[in-house]
Amino acid sequence: MSASTVQKSTEFTNSNLEVLLSEEQIKRRVAELGAEIAAAYAEKDLVIVGVLKGSCVFMADLIRAVDLPLTIDFMAVSSYKDAMKSSGDVEILKDVSQPIRGKDVIVVEDIVDTGLTLFRLMEILGSRGANSIKIASLLDKPEPRIKKELVIDYCGFQIPNKFVVGYGLDVAGRYRNLPFIGVVKNPEIA
Ligand code: IMP
Ligand code: MG
Repeated sequence: MSASTVQKSTEFTNSNLEVLLSEEQIKRRVAELGAEIAAAYAEKDLVIVGVLKGSCVFMADLIRAVDLPLTIDFMAVSSYKDAMKSSGDVEILKDVSQPIRGKDVIVVEDIVDTGLTLFRLMEILGSRGANSIKIASLLDKPEPRIKKELVIDYCGFQIPNKFVVGYGLDVAGRYRNLPFIGVVKNPEIA
C-alpha cells in the first residue's frame, strides 16, 4: 500500500470523528492514575486484570505508569455483540489464568456505561477470595448507569452520554488503534 493510500484512509476515518480527549490529555491522566495506584499498592500483591478487548491500550499504558512489582492477567466478556447498546447479558469468554485468592486485584476497563458488565464481573470475581478488588476505568459515562452502586475507584475521565471510539474502544471492531478518544459523528458510515 502506498503512502498516499494510507494518508487517504486516515483522513476518511478522522472526518467522521470529533476529538473528545487528545493523546496528550490521556497520557497525562494515565500517568496520574499510575502514580495513585503505585502509592496505594506499595506493600500489596497486585494483579492488574484487563477486560479484553477494549481495555488493551489503556492497560498497556497504565501498567507502565505503575512503578511497582505487579502481575497482569486478562478476562474477556461479551456484552455488546457489535451493537451500540448494552444487551444486559454478560458472558465470560475468557477467564483469568491464575487464581486470585489472597491477591489485590484491580480490574481495568475501557468504559463504564450502564455498569452491567462490570457489576456482573465484580460479582463473579468477588466470590473468589481476593484480598481486595478495585476498578480502574479510563472513561465513565454516568448518565446511562443502571448499576448506580458500582464504584469506580480509579477513573480517568467522566464523559457525556455519547458513543466514543479510539484508544481501545471500538464500534463493530474498528477504531481501536486511534491514539485519541473521538465521538463518531455518523455511526451509519462508521
Ligand atoms: P456497560 O455494561 O453498559 O457498562 O458497558 C461496558 C462495555 O460496553 C464497555 O466495556 C465497552 O466495551 C462498551 N461500551 C460502552 N459504551 C461505549 C462507547 O461509547 N464506545 C465503545 N464501547 C462502549
Ligand atoms: Mg469493554
